[in-house]
Amino acid sequence: MTRELFLDISHLNSNVFSSMIYLDNAATTFPKPECVYEVMDRFLREKGANPGRAGHRMSVEAEQEIEKARVTVAKILCIKNPERLIFTSGATDALNMGIKGLLSKGDHVITSKLEHNSVSRPLDALEQRGIITVSRVENSDDGFINVDDIKNTISSKTKLIICTHASNVIGTIQPISEIGRVAREKGIIFMVDAAQTLGVCGIDVENCNIDLLAFTGHKGPFGPPGSGGLYVGERAGLRPWREGGTGYEAD
Ligand SMILES: Cc1ncc(COP(=O)(O)O)c(C=O)c1O
Repeated sequence: MTRELFLDISHLNSNVFSSMIYLDNAATTFPKPECVYEVMDRFLREKGANPGRAGHRMSVEAEQEIEKARVTVAKILCIKNPERLIFTSGATDALNMGIKGLLSKGDHVITSKLEHNSVSRPLDALEQRGIITVSRVENSDDGFINVDDIKNTISSKTKLIICTHASNVIGTIQPISEIGRVAREKGIIFMVDAAQTLGVCGIDVENCNIDLLAFTGHKGPFGPPGSGGLYVGERAGLRPWREGGTGYEAD
């Protein structure tokens, strides 16, 4: 992908912003629709308290907004129980939570060679520390993962199949429904990196047998930087990979 994505034609128009053509939307969408700026401005001015950490009006209202967002995203992803959806600081955060919260010593992981660094680097790091083994299936010349390659790579130690729904580099949509079927038949956890597709393609976590799905808020959903989330299906028990936060219970 080109790095020179700001096509500066300001010499044609004195207003730089009205003449800038921004093409870097796979990295982050810009500009956001006007309603995003309006809602965020209003939220920060009127409900900008610490959500759920106090009983006063602003804190309660801030929490209600988060719950509304949780229900909305759950509907988009066809998640039956919105409580299985947590918000994170982005897809990188969600992917690390899923990968590091799930895997234990001796586990085998199947992934592809099309992955973003936020998948490949956590896996590489666990592999280099001798905790897991990783198989990286090739993709076809036209950019697709072959489900049979995944099937043929499964072993008795395979705990996780993880792949991108669409690569940020080539954009091909991977056959997650077929991969999910194979994973479920074999009792393997299936995690999808939907950073490029939430808000762009329809995704049904139930139909695709997805156990873990990471997404970002700042691309297709037109949210602010530093937003994203993780769907954690009932089959995917995760250990917390950082402790803290709010609430009454530790887990
Ligand atoms: C395929 C893919 N996965 C993960 C990420 C990481 O997303 P975030 O910026 O929300 O951490 C990106 C961002 O470019 C991406 O394109």
